[in-house]
Amino acid sequence: MNPGSPSVTAQRVAAYRVGFDRLPASFGDAGADDALARDVAGGVTVEPAEEMGRYLKVRTSFFDRVVVNALKRDVAQVVALGAGYDGRCLRYALPGVRWFEVDHPDTQSDKRVRLERLGIGTPQVTFVAADFGDDGLASSLLEAGYDPDSSSVICCEGVAVYLDRSVLQSLLCEMRAISTIGTRLAISLSVSPTSADQSARRERFRAAVSAVGEPARSDLTPEQAGELFASTRWQAVELSERARNAGLVVAAPVWEERSIEIGLTEDVAARACATLSQEGEPRLGDKPAVASSSLYPAVREKSSRSCTRRPVRRMALW
Ligand SMILES: C[S@@+](CC[C@H](N)C(=O)[O-])C[C@H]1O[C@@H](n2cnc3c(N)ncnc32)[C@H](O)[C@@H]1O
Repeated sequence: MNPGSPSVTAQRVAAYRVGFDRLPASFGDAGADDALARDVAGGVTVEPAEEMGRYLKVRTSFFDRVVVNALKRDVAQVVALGAGYDGRCLRYALPGVRWFEVDHPDTQSDKRVRLERLGIGTPQVTFVAADFGDDGLASSLLEAGYDPDSSSVICCEGVAVYLDRSVLQSLLCEMRAISTIGTRLAISLSVSPTSADQSARRERFRAAVSAVGEPARSDLTPEQAGELFASTRWQAVELSERARNAGLVVAAPVWEERSIEIGLTEDVAARACATLSQEGEPRLGDKPAVASSSLYPAVREKSSRSCTRRPVRRMALW
């Protein structure tokens, strides 16, 4: 991103969305989302019939479905990572649901100025300004009121491609650390091209985003995507081939059945101890892990980047 300026790619996505039919819902304020998108689109020219427009239409519809289905299943929290000018927090606002919008401060401040100018209130939204290249997103979300014990849907739409692989891994790790068994991560990945046609399209995309100062940084083969999820303790849920080919993934936390009462191996105890709860105390599942933290005190010092806030249990796919 260009320092001090909001994301141009985020503005373009908003401009494309002005022309899309969106998934209707019996709640929320679609008009407010449309007003925001039109405001952003004011200075941006896009061609919805182009390949990028067609891709974004599929992607938008995928995330709309994930969010609306999750809301119908009673999730209490929605997190939008790299939210840009996405207005789902308005379109699908539902009483009792808290939205956490995380974005680079330069983009987020511009969005907030626009919302204020347009007179669009956002009492249901908690804004968290963060650069994914920095540590501590999980802590920032907890400080902002995110409840790690409540099922959530975490959306990471159109962001992964702009992050170095290590930053993306760290981001998934941070989110896994504050996810409970019912939480789902919906993410769009840039899948490595497998044909000459795809390679040519990818090159055009890379050139276009580089030209606006937001270079593409990570393409993943399916194997690399699998490694990314495994290393951050997420597992992809089986979806349609169409979604898979487009790099659209829903993932669930990996969850193993272990407990402090049945005895921990040093490794498991170490991982459990390496995790701090909101209060700064190590926890194992919902229980304070005081015994194990005293057994393995050294591990506590390495706690800040743990991927394993809880023991993990394999679960039925979503
Ligand atoms: C292509 S836009 C997608 C926006 C939104 N998710 C959507 O679909 O409309 C990419 C977003 O990622 C954010 N972003 C890129 N790099 C970031 C970083 N290092 N830290 C935080 N946000 C970042 C940008 O500010 C921008 O909002």
